[in-house]
Amino acid sequence: MNQFAYTKSGKYIDLSLIYSECSGPGGLRLTEFMAEKMQVRPGARLLDIGIERGYQTCFLAKEYDLLVIGIDPDDDRADGVPHIEHLQRNARAWGMEDRVIGLKLGVPETHFAGNTFDFVHSTTTLEMVRGLFGVDNYRKCLAEIYRILRPGGIFGLGEPMHHDIPIPADLLPIYTKGGGVGPEGWADCFATVAETANLCRAVGFNVLESDYAPDAWNWWDEFIHNDPHCKADPEGEAKIIQQDGGRWLSYGYVIAQKPHQ
Ligand SMILES: C[S@@+](CC[C@H](N)C(=O)[O-])C[C@H]1O[C@@H](n2cnc3c(N)ncnc32)[C@H](O)[C@@H]1O
Repeated sequence: MNQFAYTKSGKYIDLSLIYSECSGPGGLRLTEFMAEKMQVRPGARLLDIGIERGYQTCFLAKEYDLLVIGIDPDDDRADGVPHIEHLQRNARAWGMEDRVIGLKLGVPETHFAGNTFDFVHSTTTLEMVRGLFGVDNYRKCLAEIYRILRPGGIFGLGEPMHHDIPIPADLLPIYTKGGGVGPEGWADCFATVAETANLCRAVGFNVLESDYAPDAWNWWDEFIHNDPHCKADPEGEAKIIQQDGGRWLSYGYVIAQKPHQ
């Protein structure tokens, strides 16, 4: 039995539930991985960007004793309900209503005051912005995150990234066909860890750590077996990810700090 998305505490083991409330590889284990890398501390104020149904947002609030503001501009693709309403539902279920706030907005224009957050966390979100709106817009998102973090604040970015190799020949026609945020547009969405870290440096961050997640491929494999959309369409995205097999596709992270002034 795969168990790469299980948290270390062993408290969260229902992968079907986790993957139906999250959207992307890694589930709560990804969030735990990021929180540890970011060294979040109790009582801190964390912004979570791109929350889907807010499951990871509530996990951050509960397990790390944080005040979490979750932002997402979109509605759920399965039921059309705004993501922040799903966050409210989860906040009730997790007993976190006093520590989780949802706002229907997105990057790059958050309208938060500068120097507001101790931590900013974003997983499997900004690569979609890059795919849809281009790398200049991606850079604007990073600059906005830099602006709203307080000096010394930490940004944890996790997203699908590709190994620093050319796209394998059999996958090239699929990944470069163009079109949205699915596999046919992934050549436009994804970058290497080095490219992503350099973009963070370009807007002013000090990069503390950046790498491919050791469990990246296991998270992807688990995603295709548990994500409800993959399960409903095994011949679609799931088949392409399986064909890749971790040759080009991976999952990377960057932990970056806004310099102390
Ligand atoms: C693939 S989901 C990732 C959810 C979750 N963070 C995870 O790791 O599973 C991407 C989320 O980003 C949201 N999103 C899309 N554009 C956004 C933007 N400009 N700003 C913030 N969130 C955005 C989508 O609505 C969706 O909920």
